[in-house]
Amino acid sequence: MLDRRSFLGSAAAASIAQPLGAQALRGVPLPADDLYDTDEDGYWKALRAQFLIPADVVNLNVGTVGSSPRPVLKAIFDGFEQTEQMTQPGSEEYPIWGYGSWDQYRQPFADFAGARVEQMAILRNCTEANSYVANGFDMKAGDEVLMSDEEHGSGQMPWLLRSRRYGVVVKTFAMPRPPKDAAEILNRINDAITPRTRIIFVSHISTATGVVLPAKEITALARSKGIVSAFDGAHAPGMININLNELGCDLYTGSMHKWLFAPKGTGFLYLRDKGVMDRLWHTTVTGGYDDPARMADRYMQIGSSCIPTLMGLNVAIGFANSIGMDRIERRNRMLADYIHGEMMKRGAESWTSPDPALRGAIATVNVPPVQRMELQDWLWTNHKVRIRGGAPSKLRLATPYFLSRADIDRFLDLFDQFRKMKGA
Ligand SMILES: Cc1ncc(COP(=O)(O)O)c(C=O)c1O
Repeated sequence: MLDRRSFLGSAAAASIAQPLGAQALRGVPLPADDLYDTDEDGYWKALRAQFLIPADVVNLNVGTVGSSPRPVLKAIFDGFEQTEQMTQPGSEEYPIWGYGSWDQYRQPFADFAGARVEQMAILRNCTEANSYVANGFDMKAGDEVLMSDEEHGSGQMPWLLRSRRYGVVVKTFAMPRPPKDAAEILNRINDAITPRTRIIFVSHISTATGVVLPAKEITALARSKGIVSAFDGAHAPGMININLNELGCDLYTGSMHKWLFAPKGTGFLYLRDKGVMDRLWHTTVTGGYDDPARMADRYMQIGSSCIPTLMGLNVAIGFANSIGMDRIERRNRMLADYIHGEMMKRGAESWTSPDPALRGAIATVNVPPVQRMELQDWLWTNHKVRIRGGAPSKLRLATPYFLSRADIDRFLDLFDQFRKMKGA
């Protein structure tokens, strides 16, 4: 038997002790950790160099889809190179996620999200995971789902389909714009609950405004009334720290391809326990879906899908861990506060909450009479600055850590120029 010293020296321990993805990150010129203390701007600049986004492009919209850095892309390419040889050791072994449990990919993401592996199903995007929830949650005609009026189409439409097809009732509450504090949101939810409410389904981070909803309090409110809590967390992983078991909700869905910069084609469904699994029918199934001993892995039996994507996911997690989610979250938030403050100085109406607990890294402002689409096109076509928003004058500004203040200042100068040009 190995004593502690020789165990720590063994190859096995070395791979266990290393942060996840460290192997794949070997040879990648990531900034040394102490650079953060001596030259923070230099540290973020070095990370920025890992993204293929050209140096003169300012991307203020990872809210739609992120951009995977080089090590993630390399893991995908290497993954294809390796798996397409079809030399897997077992005669029944093939490179297809969609059959089997694939714990080597579920476990790292479960760890990252504060969950246990048996609570986590990796799916292909948040829309798929939301559809699982809306299609599958055990309800009768007339039973109600309560959601906000700010749900993304991928959260709302699956429920509207269920409603049209099977007569469940979709109720909505209006989100305050902006909410002053958590109590204002909780009161609106509480007032909209009826004896027929079976499930509350809301975004953790609103796609419309970037407001971070008080998920823990919403969960507690739902539980106190015997209602299931489900969150659409498409924007959460990689933007803010998440700990799903601490949050305590029953169901949680999300995407890793946005703020975590994982490959496109990665999403997840978290199910708290067997009780909630027993109440969630499947939508896509193949063999193994009905074995309760498999827990959340049952929801991954979706037919042939792409293993190199999961290899890229592991490296995206390693990349984030090598920076540290605390550091990422601080930087994301600092940049959002900066852009928001500067837009306020310009007379914008804030749809971002004044309560820091309800803010993340998406600042949303309303800037009439500026026409969002006109500004968005002009910024992208003429100046390589990418933003997004809503009609007629809402700007949604997402600030991932790889941006610099200079990038944001460039956007602000252009915004000023545009307004002047339009006489606004
Ligand atoms: C809140 C929310 N839910 C779901 C989605 C859909 O995510 P995906 O493209 O991963 O299916 C989005 C996409 O922007 C979103 O903002």
